[in-house]
Amino acid sequence: ASLTASNTFGFEVVAERYAEVSDAAQIPSLLAIIEQQNWPLLILGGGSNLVLSSKLPGCVLRIALRGYDVLEDHVDHVIIRVAAGEEWHQCVTHCLQNGWYGLENLALIPGSVGAAPVQNIGAYGVELKDVVSKVDVYDRRAKQFDSLSVEQCHFGYRDSVFKSIHPDRYLITHVCFKLSKVPRVSVAYAALESACRHLYPNAASYSPRQVFDAVCYVRRSKLPDPSKLGNAGSFFKNPVVSSDVFFELKEAYPELVAYPDVQGYKLAAGWMIDYLGWKGRRIESVGVHKDQALVLVNHGGGSRESIESLSAQIQTDVMKCFRVFLEVEPRFYP
Ligand code: EPU
Repeated sequence: ASLTASNTFGFEVVAERYAEVSDAAQIPSLLAIIEQQNWPLLILGGGSNLVLSSKLPGCVLRIALRGYDVLEDHVDHVIIRVAAGEEWHQCVTHCLQNGWYGLENLALIPGSVGAAPVQNIGAYGVELKDVVSKVDVYDRRAKQFDSLSVEQCHFGYRDSVFKSIHPDRYLITHVCFKLSKVPRVSVAYAALESACRHLYPNAASYSPRQVFDAVCYVRRSKLPDPSKLGNAGSFFKNPVVSSDVFFELKEAYPELVAYPDVQGYKLAAGWMIDYLGWKGRRIESVGVHKDQALVLVNHGGGSRESIESLSAQIQTDVMKCFRVFLEVEPRFYP
């Protein structure tokens, strides 16, 4: 099966075997076959955080479960359960339209609902962990359906139990969210605040709808639409360094952008890559996006190898200049 349309980089990818799950009841028997055959397994959501090789061995399983359920309806909040195969941005829109607030800052993030907890998606001051109440899974080790609490998910910056502690153990079937019925917004993130001020110059406060629109506006102004230009969002994580290291760097590079973090400072990797002149540079079929240096793009005909080579050159340059290692954010498979 061709997965060229199923990875947002748009790499030409062929899978040896491909199956879709549209009913959770199929999961145990499908996984039993895959395990019996000893096939390597890739669970695919929206394919928006993956760097795939041109040939994938074993089996690719797309989670196509759909649907929304209201589990609890209270005066001031709801608990909803969304199936893993729903598209993330549609989920954000659906909740906003129903008057369930909290997801606005996460508008326009490409990918599926089921993939969102894996890397604890985050943008403009909100992370998935702030709105999740639990994650429903099929546990491949225990061979049973289960629910993981927020604590059990071990969410961190672009990280979770699903990504680093037990990468292949859980198949996410549903994500449950606790959302407010009382309008409540978060506009502390500088770029979002200034977009709100620009879009609504006379407003004393902003509605969730306005924040949603402002987030869409900011993202559209600098992040490439994967349906037009292949990419996987931020390609590197923003590195966290100690306060000592930060102050030394800040002295050498006064313009360096950084945010205080529990462990010291989180440096804006996009600023460092931009500073080194990479923004907009192209190496054959791949390159660095012209408006956001943290995003690597496929201009057409790119592959895992070409992205790997570009990414290694950027890592080397950043290490030489700033003595900081840039960790790659999307998952390479296999
Ligand atoms: N900057 C530059 N040049 C650039 C890019 C950024 O100077 O080419 C500077 C900006 O001016 C700004 C700072 O760096 O002062 C931060 O930039 P931005 O607000 O665009 O955010 P980011 O740190 O580059 C992170 C997330 C994004 C998320 C935004 C907004 C990571 C790895 N990335 O990017 O997430 O949308 O913040 O919250 O944490 C993603 O994960 O795929 C993603 C897009």
